[in-house]
Amino acid sequence: MAEETQSITTRHDAETDPALWWRQAVVYQVYPRSFQDTTGSGLGDINGITGRIPYLRQLGVDAIWLSPFYPSELADGGYDVADYRDVDPKLGSMDDFDRLAAAAHAADIKVVVDIVPNHSSHLHPWFRQALAGGPGSPARDRYIFRDGKGPNGDEPPTRWQNHFGGPAWTRVDDGQWYLHMFAKEQPDWNWRNPDVRADFLETLRFWCDHGVDGFRIDVAHGLAKDLDRDDLDDYVVMSTNDMPADGSHPVLDRDEVHDIYCEWRREVFNRYDPPRFAVAEAWVRPERQYLYASPDELGQVFNFEFAKADWTFDAMSKAIDEGLACAERSGSTSTWVMSNHDVPRHATRYALPQVPTGEYHQIANDWLLRDGTTYIEDRQAGALRARAALMLEMALPGSAYVYQGEELGMTNVQYDIEDYKDCEIINMYHERLEKGYSKDEIMKSIYAKGRDNARTPMQWDDSANAGFTTGTPWIKVNDNYDKINAKSQVDDPDSIFSCYKKLVQLRKDYPVFVDGKFTLLLEDDDNIFAYSRKNEEKTMIVVCNFFDKEIPMPLAKECEGMEVLISNYKDTSDMSVLRPYEARMYIR
Ligand code: GLC
Repeated sequence: MAEETQSITTRHDAETDPALWWRQAVVYQVYPRSFQDTTGSGLGDINGITGRIPYLRQLGVDAIWLSPFYPSELADGGYDVADYRDVDPKLGSMDDFDRLAAAAHAADIKVVVDIVPNHSSHLHPWFRQALAGGPGSPARDRYIFRDGKGPNGDEPPTRWQNHFGGPAWTRVDDGQWYLHMFAKEQPDWNWRNPDVRADFLETLRFWCDHGVDGFRIDVAHGLAKDLDRDDLDDYVVMSTNDMPADGSHPVLDRDEVHDIYCEWRREVFNRYDPPRFAVAEAWVRPERQYLYASPDELGQVFNFEFAKADWTFDAMSKAIDEGLACAERSGSTSTWVMSNHDVPRHATRYALPQVPTGEYHQIANDWLLRDGTTYIEDRQAGALRARAALMLEMALPGSAYVYQGEELGMTNVQYDIEDYKDCEIINMYHERLEKGYSKDEIMKSIYAKGRDNARTPMQWDDSANAGFTTGTPWIKVNDNYDKINAKSQVDDPDSIFSCYKKLVQLRKDYPVFVDGKFTLLLEDDDNIFAYSRKNEEKTMIVVCNFFDKEIPMPLAKECEGMEVLISNYKDTSDMSVLRPYEARMYIR
């Protein structure tokens, strides 16, 4: 945590200008194919989302963000888009989408869609044309094709590996190679090509005209590329902490990427009333993140430090610190994310032992520390910590992004390798087997890190397949659905669902959640994280004990006479101590 007290003032934007709703919103991410199936196909669909609007309204969220639902062969869960301006027939139709948008708007819920501009699917008609057109053709210039190295050009242009493992170049029949930073089914667009630029403007307009209120931009830091140089092999195409901080990487976080977003702002977002916003997925160095959130560009950027953090005081306080700093630099608001479709479930993450991130391996239900000590996943502590983290998150200035199922406390899974569907998991499994790792070892890291942990079907009730589908689900349902499901939680005032619902409501009831000045309290305390928010009417204090021990309440005096709005313990009669992992939110 920074030495000096942090003070950040946010305007009560939503009240002064409803067009800025997104600066302080609770946005619920829907992963469509795992949300609700209405046809028995085993894949969630658009009508399934529409049918669940009453549930989302009950939760109280301001907006839904839909992960891709466009025509796709699902090589990467829909992030391989074959047509940017349609609904995948497996998931519904444009009419279904229009009905969904209308139903959401009628329930006062905004709609955000995912735009995937770094790459398309190899089934996109323009990629088919690029293949047919041959070297040097205008169609080929829309993607990134190069001749190979070596006497016959049979070595790839660079030694780059793609994000999912394996080479980042694939050779086509006429001998050229195309670049794909992700799977080989996801060829990268050439953003220097004017057709590509114009087509994305068209796509953005198309969705605005269909009532969309905002966009989530996939791999927003990857679009601009400079391959005309000799040092390409000095770089990797993965985002890492030692990426250059000056925009000089050949394919990631280059300065020219910002020209693209300025154009989107000018040519599309600001041409609509109210102006549309976008949030960038940009895995870049924290000190460059804010650039994407500029009001001349996308407006907001994800801060993923929370999503990466396990339950340690250092990781969580650093996440908060960086999120606030990013907002301050950009003039935008922070975005708090604990879970999404790419990271393991935080209900499981927070049940891990408190050791520095990366020091554990999961084995079945045990966790093995690097020194060989085993540790049983502590579900009870995990549940307390998940609620504490939520309280910390929801009272911070900015937007909170909630991933489907986290409001129910959904957890990771441990499947046989045959039951996993994610290309990243499957590639990694085969790659490591080839490198000589044992199956047991590989499975441990899949259990702990695999993306399918987050993609198992929503657990609606305790009927077959958790009420997700009447058919065979595209991926197995987590077998704890009889205990963890929406039906058993929505009317239970003590459930995790009710905790989310209450916090979402508090954000609406008290403007201090929006415009209160943030001040970090107890700066030198390494056990307790605390902050206050203060406006002209109210003062709110949030305090959280990060450890498994009872600690005398250090803010007893400050909190005297204040009302406890919410706590992760039921009994709040003794205010003089903080019990293990206890979090409380006070107001006056
Ligand atoms: C983003 C998505 C992820 C996808 C990747 C490639 O990181 O969140 O799910 O695999 O982009 O599109």
